Amino acid sequence: MGAYDQESVRRFFDRFGQREWERLERDVAGQANYAIHRKLLAPEVQPGMRILDAGCGPGRYAIDLIRAGARVTLADLSPVQLELAAGNVRDAGLEGHVDGRHEVDICDLGVFATASFDGVVCYGGALSYTRERHPGALAELVRVVRPGGFLALSAMSLYGILLLLGVLDIPGFLETMPHHLDLGDDPSALPGCVMTVQGSPEFHQPMALFAAQHLQGLVSAAGCDIVRTAVANPLSWGLVALEKTAASAAARETLLELELALCEDPRLADRGDHLIVIARKR
Ligand SMILES: C[S@@+](CC[C@H](N)C(=O)[O-])C[C@H]1O[C@@H](n2cnc3c(N)ncnc32)[C@H](O)[C@@H]1O
Repeated sequence: MGAYDQESVRRFFDRFGQREWERLERDVAGQANYAIHRKLLAPEVQPGMRILDAGCGPGRYAIDLIRAGARVTLADLSPVQLELAAGNVRDAGLEGHVDGRHEVDICDLGVFATASFDGVVCYGGALSYTRERHPGALAELVRVVRPGGFLALSAMSLYGILLLLGVLDIPGFLETMPHHLDLGDDPSALPGCVMTVQGSPEFHQPMALFAAQHLQGLVSAAGCDIVRTAVANPLSWGLVALEKTAASAAARETLLELELALCEDPRLADRGDHLIVIARKR
C-alpha cells in the first residue's frame, strides 16, 4: 500500500505551482468548493486573532483571514507554494499582516509552541496526504491551538470518491481496483479511513480518504468539540454536465446557491470532494 512519502508530496506541489491557485476558480465545482470552505471559516475569525494557515498553498485562505482582521502565519511543505502565498499576500498589499513563513510538515509542528494560535486552518487536504501519519498530524494541529481556539479542517471524502464511479469512465478503474483503492477483504465492512494505493494514476498523490463520521471522531478524540461540519461540494463534485451548467449564468448561480444551502445537510455528509470540520479545542 505504501507509507507516507513526504518528498513525493512536496515535489508534486512544487511542480503543481500556480495551478493550485487556479483550482478554486477554474470551474463551478472549484468555485463552490471555495465558497463552502469560506462560509464555514468566516464566523470563526475575529479581528486580532493569530491564525496558522497549515498547508496554506498559494495563500487564498490566508488572504481571506487577513481581510477579516487576523494575523496569519503561513506554513507549507512546498517551498514553491510558500513563495506563491507570500507573493499573493504581497500583491494584495497585506504582507504587513503575516507573522511568519515556515516550510514545515504538519506531522511535526515543533517549530510552534503549544497553544500558540487562536485558530488553525488546514484546508484542502494536507491531512489526507499524510496517509497513515494522519493521527499524529491531527494531534500536532490541535496541540498548537489554544484551549477555546478553533480548528478548521478539510480532508478528502471516501464516499465522494466512490460515488464518482457513477460518472467517470470507470470500467478500467473497476477492472484494476486493487491498484487504486484498498477496500480490504470485505467492502461491506469498509473502515472509516481507506488508503489509495501508492502509484495509482487515478489519484494525483497517494492519500487517506475518510468517512465523515470517522473524521469527526478523530477530531473529537484529538481533544476538540465539533462545532459544525459540511461537505464541499456535494452537488457539483463529479457533475457530468459541468461545462453545460457553467455556460448558463442562471444555472451556475442556482447551483452555487444550492451548494451553499445544502453543504451542512447531514444527509449529504459523505458526498463531495472535501469533508469540512470546524471544531473548538477543549
Ligand atoms: C490542495 S493544496 C491546498 C492549499 C490551500 N490550503 C487551499 O485549500 O487552497 C494542499 C497544500 O498542502 C500542502 N501540504 C501537503 N501535505 C502537507 C504536509 N504534510 N504538511 C504541510 N503542508 C502540506 C501542499 O504543499 C499544498 O500546498
